[in-house]
Amino acid sequence: MRKYLFLLLSLYGIQQGVAQEINLLPQPVSLHQQAGVFILSPQVTIVYQRDKSELRDIALSLQQRIARPTGMQLSLRYSKDNKISRYILLKLNDQADSRLGKEGYTLNVTNQEVSLSANEPAGLFYGMQTLMQLLPAAIESKTIAKELKWSLPCVTILDYPRFGWRGLMLDVSRHFFPKEDVKRYIDQMAKYKFNVFHWHLTDDQGWRIEIKSFPKLTSTGAWRVPRTGTWWQFDEPQPGEPATDGGYYTQEDIREVVQYAQDRHIMIIPEIDVPGHSMAALAAYPEYSCTGGPFNVNPGSKFQGENSLCAGNDSTFVFLDKVIGEVADLFPSPYIHMGGDECNKAFWKKCPKCQQRMLTEKLNSAEELQSYFVRRVEQIILSKGKKLIGWDEILEGGLAPSATVMSWRGMEGGITAAKAGHQIIMTPTQYCYLDLYQGDPVTEPETYSMLRLKTCYEFDPVPEGIDAALVLGGQGNLWTESVPTLRHAEYMTWPRSFALAEVFWSPKEMRDWPGFVKRAEAQTRRYDAARVNYATSLYDPAFKAVQETENGLLITLSTEVPGLITYYTFDNTRPDNFSAKYEQPLHVPKNARNLKVITYRNGELVGHEISMPIAELLKRAGEKK
Ligand code: ACM
Ligand code: ZN
Repeated sequence: MRKYLFLLLSLYGIQQGVAQEINLLPQPVSLHQQAGVFILSPQVTIVYQRDKSELRDIALSLQQRIARPTGMQLSLRYSKDNKISRYILLKLNDQADSRLGKEGYTLNVTNQEVSLSANEPAGLFYGMQTLMQLLPAAIESKTIAKELKWSLPCVTILDYPRFGWRGLMLDVSRHFFPKEDVKRYIDQMAKYKFNVFHWHLTDDQGWRIEIKSFPKLTSTGAWRVPRTGTWWQFDEPQPGEPATDGGYYTQEDIREVVQYAQDRHIMIIPEIDVPGHSMAALAAYPEYSCTGGPFNVNPGSKFQGENSLCAGNDSTFVFLDKVIGEVADLFPSPYIHMGGDECNKAFWKKCPKCQQRMLTEKLNSAEELQSYFVRRVEQIILSKGKKLIGWDEILEGGLAPSATVMSWRGMEGGITAAKAGHQIIMTPTQYCYLDLYQGDPVTEPETYSMLRLKTCYEFDPVPEGIDAALVLGGQGNLWTESVPTLRHAEYMTWPRSFALAEVFWSPKEMRDWPGFVKRAEAQTRRYDAARVNYATSLYDPAFKAVQETENGLLITLSTEVPGLITYYTFDNTRPDNFSAKYEQPLHVPKNARNLKVITYRNGELVGHEISMPIAELLKRAGEKK
């Protein structure tokens, strides 16, 4: 009875409108919370207005996502009769609401009904993600969750994206991720309203897509010798050593993943990276190189030299015509990404065929030969009814007329291309490269450079001085040299892609760092329930060290997140919140060897214990001089 009473009281509390906290990410364009909640109960019906398969799919997906953790199997109807009193309504607008575009939606929750409407199914799909985020974190649980109240706060939401291109790229060449991993990654993207999955399918370390006209691309090109440890330092393949590490997607797998993404309103952009980054293809077909090889699929050894297709050999373009033809048939997206980055042109300069090509085509530099190559690929891509995207190197030597440019070496490539009237996608290293460190290298898994969460959040894809309409949007890129597993891919992707999700979706003027941190933390609780990995590096301080002439090393610790307190020791003991509190820059006591730090918030441990060698700080201070 007491249990009953408690239940009644808590339901009463809910109905009296004890405000349920809302932490939507990305932030919607407008949100008004009203008193009260809508309580999910088995009597609620999901109604989809209009008998259209895309609507039914969204309704079914909502039904399943609710059923798994709650055990409530809500019934589905495709029209509403008067007998249905409590419902979740999914409705396509009869007359398009001009504020919403293709991907926007409105969501109204009262204590009687949840009403979601949009111009297109994509809008309903994004509205469903918002609806799910209004429910407690346990709604993401894969098993029945112990949750007393499954309710949504009463709200009125109007929402639509800032950009139409909200991408994440996954490199499946440096490490292979089976299709199940890719689907899981796509699932995570969909929850945060990403709509483009850029699949980096080929590179020096593995060719991952079955091409029926060239079977060795995968029978040879998808496999390399196994190595563990530090990428770029691995031993080269030894004579006779079996190439057992790798894998690839059959065309059947590709179709399955494409459909999976489509069901989640995500477009997949395939990338076939040429003319550089082609060592795996050349291991299979050395005849498309300048020298004839032989080549091995690179296992992550120091860069070996030749990895470009020959630009002087006509059969290279016959090869690409067939490859791109098969790729075009597999992917419904209007774009094919041809890579084009970091092409090593040294062998072109020594190759008689490439030199002959330059003479015949009156090309004055290796850059112009690269531009010639890109234009030929552009013609192939156009002949398959698709449009070309390339990394910003395709600007060198003259840009192909119809190309869309993905700017990665900063924003400059994008700016130049936009000024020439081309569409661009902004994915500059300094804001968007998810393979970079997100906290101090002494505590993070080994990689390179630095991209902290707050920096991601400061990204603006639209630079000054260009036509904003040419900026399709932005993208985070996860290169996987140092990412051998999906768990680690998740660690590198989140929470930084929470920041990017908000940059790409929400109005710029709504940016709010402390608010974002709170919303991102709420998402990590959902990820705990869903068993998705993420980094907690945002709680760790950044170290800055300068060498002062008088006093020696001066160390400054800084944190990004409001309300953190850092504690430290110099005496080799483990720090906790009884240790010295960091309040001002520190001088190093004589003979101290390590500065150990740890971070708390409201008395709770949030950061990692970091042991920073003083020798490391001395080195860094020296390097900065
Ligand atoms: C790239 O990072 N090479 C596009
Ligand atoms: Zn050549």
